[in-house]
Amino acid sequence: MSAHFSLDQIDEIVKTLQSRTSYRPRVSIILGSGLNDLANSVQTPDVIPFGELPHFPVSTVFGHAGRIIIGELEGQTVFVMQGRIHFYEGYTMAQVTLPIRVMQRFGIETMIVTNAAGGVNPEFIPGDVMLITDHLNFLGMMGHNPLMGPNYDEIGPRFPDMSQPYDRALCDLARGVAKKEKITLREGVYAGLSGPSFEGPADLRFLRLAGADSVGMSTVPEVIVARHGGLRVLGFSGISNKANLDGSTVTTHEEVIEAGKVITPKMEKLIRGVLRQL
Ligand code: HPA
Repeated sequence: MSAHFSLDQIDEIVKTLQSRTSYRPRVSIILGSGLNDLANSVQTPDVIPFGELPHFPVSTVFGHAGRIIIGELEGQTVFVMQGRIHFYEGYTMAQVTLPIRVMQRFGIETMIVTNAAGGVNPEFIPGDVMLITDHLNFLGMMGHNPLMGPNYDEIGPRFPDMSQPYDRALCDLARGVAKKEKITLREGVYAGLSGPSFEGPADLRFLRLAGADSVGMSTVPEVIVARHGGLRVLGFSGISNKANLDGSTVTTHEEVIEAGKVITPKMEKLIRGVLRQL
């Protein structure tokens, strides 16, 4: 499996997409665990399973459909990733973030990213939605930055700025939608870890001390690659469980999927509201 993808390989995927759809989307949405159903709202969709694209990794996780759905939502043409690729599946960082490179070369300018996450902030309860205002790049700190390796100057700079991983204007739009729709929108810092084991109590106390409000196993590599390529990013965590800071409760993937049912309608309202104003 390739450690890095060449521009030619990325563009080969883009050409395949262009042959499978006449849509030319500017906005993408990545759906996290348990949030697949959001894609059902896309009108007159073209559906492309990951497995039908050259070089594309396939999603192996239950709760991740592994398809690209391109169609209309709230007057925008959207590119929806129903499922994503995770580092814990054994894929390389280049594979995990390949879809983002494809988005960029396909013309996407704005990416809305969602995930299921544990609530590290003790005020958060399962079913909450958190606007991601910043992140902790633990994977990068451990030497797994997706931008390691050759840099393609046509795509972005060698040393990209990360002062605003999550676009402030888009955050303001989301706050406005939440207010109008009377949705309680939490805010905070998402800590990105590799998984697949959930965190232990000491991990979680450390994450809280480090400033984390939510914790999950995705998103951060995707956002770094998106920012490298100049995409604007908006991010939401669906809080599926309370992080277990004292070791008194057990976390399961089933409860993550279950919480998605409460979170999906809120997430849908937020995303629809933002799309209307883009
Ligand atoms: N930890 C990490 N990832 C998660 C969690 C969690 O508690 N819940 C959902 N994804």
